[in-house]
Amino acid sequence: MVQTISELKSSIDDYLSDHLVADVDQATLYSSMRYSLMAGGKRLRPALTLATVEMLGGTVDENVIHAATALELLHTYSLIHDDLPAMDNDDLRRGKPTNHCRYGAGMATLAGDGLLTLAFQWVTDNGLPAAIRAELTLALAQAAGPAGMVAGQARDIEGEGHQLDLDQLRYLHRQKTGALLRYAVLAGGIITNQSRPVKAALADFGAQFGLAFQIYDDLMDVLGTTAQMGKQVHKDAGEHKNTYPGLLGVAGAEEQLHKALQSAKAAQTKLGELTGRSFAGYDQFLAYFKL
Ligand code: IPE
Ligand code: IPE
Ligand code: MG
Ligand code: MG
Ligand code: MG
Repeated sequence: MVQTISELKSSIDDYLSDHLVADVDQATLYSSMRYSLMAGGKRLRPALTLATVEMLGGTVDENVIHAATALELLHTYSLIHDDLPAMDNDDLRRGKPTNHCRYGAGMATLAGDGLLTLAFQWVTDNGLPAAIRAELTLALAQAAGPAGMVAGQARDIEGEGHQLDLDQLRYLHRQKTGALLRYAVLAGGIITNQSRPVKAALADFGAQFGLAFQIYDDLMDVLGTTAQMGKQVHKDAGEHKNTYPGLLGVAGAEEQLHKALQSAKAAQTKLGELTGRSFAGYDQFLAYFKL
């Protein structure tokens, strides 16, 4: 049986809440890391990894949870740094004041540094076979680093104030948000030791889901509410951000969202064909995109 997103979310919340304390040795730093980590994220990335493991017939044990929740540490770091005054300068995240508003920019920077580094500790410091830990570590570094999420964030800030074309914007979104979601799904295939073609189809599903996720985030900045998103909306245009609705209008952005979701569904079907298993568990993740 594949667990529901809400079952996965509550095991991820419990695991993070119980295990962070053991690995942080400074009181304010711990408080600041914990503040953002436990502020109420959706936990979609580790939930995608765990659901993928289950759909591939693997078992979600403590080692798998330790490796999978590493990504939530890393994602939370990316949000803390994204919100800093020198980046997007936001004051609300996950329904609470941002980390730098609460702890100051210096401690917020360090909380991010701590979460990023601890993610690599958790992905290696567990009882999974050494070859799997090595593969996860490499894939996570590639996804998160200067050819992945960080590169996308660099394109995002450099692009402020000039209009990127659709190819450039898609590339930016694939890096800044797609890369970590692609890793989230691929990690489930690495943990369960899948063949190359299955890993490729998982990576494809994750990448398309990830692109859709950032297009939807751009749309919600225009169409959503602060209460719904837990962060300020209607900010991107004023910051001269490159977004899908900014480039294509709401209807054009929705069309691109549907295209990415169709590609994700095609990868979902292909996974079923390659493995003879059901990937219907991804439907609950695809249900996130409500317009
Ligand atoms: C927010 O990610 C940042 C983007 C990549 C758009 P989420 O929407 O997954 O944020 P949380 O983790 O639920 O707070
Ligand atoms: C994605 O972009 C952020 C990260 C890669 C961390 P945004 O800047 O649009 O994310 P939000 O809207 O602040 O959550
Ligand atoms: Mg940003
Ligand atoms: Mg932002
Ligand atoms: Mg946004």
